[in-house]
Amino acid sequence: MDGSVKTSLGVQRIEGVLHFGGVPVPELAETYGTPLYVYDLAWIRHRYQHWVSRIPNVKFVAYSVKTNANLAVLKTLASLGAGADVVSQGELRQALRAKIPPDKIVFAGVGKTPEELDLAAATRIFAIHVENPGELEYLAAHHPGTRVGIRVNPDVFPHTLQEIATGSGSSKFGFPLDQVLPLYRRFREKLRFVGLHFHLGSQIRDAAPYLEAIEKVRPLLDALDHPEYLDIGGGFFLDYQQSWDEATFWETLSPVLADLPVPVIVEPGRTLLAQAGILVTRVLYVKEMKGIRYAIVDAGMNDFVRPALYKQIHRIVCAEEAGNSQILEYAVVGPICENTDMFARSVRLERLEPGDLLVILDTGAYGYVMASNYNLRPRPPEVVVEEGHHRLVHPREQVPPIGPVETG
Ligand code: LLP
Repeated sequence: MDGSVKTSLGVQRIEGVLHFGGVPVPELAETYGTPLYVYDLAWIRHRYQHWVSRIPNVKFVAYSVKTNANLAVLKTLASLGAGADVVSQGELRQALRAKIPPDKIVFAGVGKTPEELDLAAATRIFAIHVENPGELEYLAAHHPGTRVGIRVNPDVFPHTLQEIATGSGSSKFGFPLDQVLPLYRRFREKLRFVGLHFHLGSQIRDAAPYLEAIEKVRPLLDALDHPEYLDIGGGFFLDYQQSWDEATFWETLSPVLADLPVPVIVEPGRTLLAQAGILVTRVLYVKEMKGIRYAIVDAGMNDFVRPALYKQIHRIVCAEEAGNSQILEYAVVGPICENTDMFARSVRLERLEPGDLLVILDTGAYGYVMASNYNLRPRPPEVVVEEGHHRLVHPREQVPPIGPVETG
């Protein structure tokens, strides 16, 4: 963000009070309750335009809907011209609801059901990214002429967490390179093979794995009749903690993209959305045990699972700072009955009291979409902010359903 210009984009602290999208966080907590997800639509617009302007030779941007499938978010991206990468019938329907044009939608996934393939074919999306021979057989038999792209597994290790490395040979995704041409020859009379797709994983810092994968799939691209695109997937790094040189990444990758015989599709998720969201939570209790000071908050791992699942550290800050209080070290934990229900093992914050508000930052990606009802807890509401205004876009769930209490 340009520090010289006073902007209401994203997170800002004004006289000790954290603002998001120009709205004081305490006002959001008072209005909608906690825990609460908030997304800044103006930030998404700003980030999208800045990010896309760096990439040469783009056919379209297929925003990866699994990152954040909120309708207001999708509509914002649709208005900017984004397409969508979907992996389920639900995501496809949600993308269409947001008015993302079908001819900018790609559908990947190792286990698409016949119903999902029927819907994708009937909707005439840009391409179904096939990942196994059974899908090709089904589409050839039931939907001849469908546009398909082949998802290849280029067997490249992207040096990221094992859990999110999808383009290495031992993962379940896509076809090994040597199976592509035999399948193409077998089905080319029945289906339209329009391009190739790979997705290497997530949180990839370095351009090298992309370059290696492109080099490996290039001969296959040359072997197809009239290919229309190469889809290089998502996985673009996002700086949760360490700084990262995004400009160098794109300077390294761009000449290779520009030199391809076809335009590229990119499937960003986290890089566009992570910083567009916050999770607001309230301190319920504070207690000390064996030298550890616990702040027990009303959000749990069911609301935001990334720290528990990937040990990913997200910054946590106070919504209101007095400026003169003591700084103490806290373990920030949720109320769920699991040891891993911990947002931070040790974070330095001003002295906390029950009722204080904390904000978990960079939770716009893989936040709400991975929330669950574990411990029969309702998923939080989703609110959008934009240049000083806020509105509820998805209410808090009611779980368990409110009804007559069974007294036996
Ligand atoms: N395209 C495909 C086919 C994908 O499977 C994914 C993410 C993306 C694009 C977007 O990747 P991104 O640009 O966001 O890295 N739940 C994990 C991340 C799993 C990513 C799965 N695939 C997390 O919270 O880190």
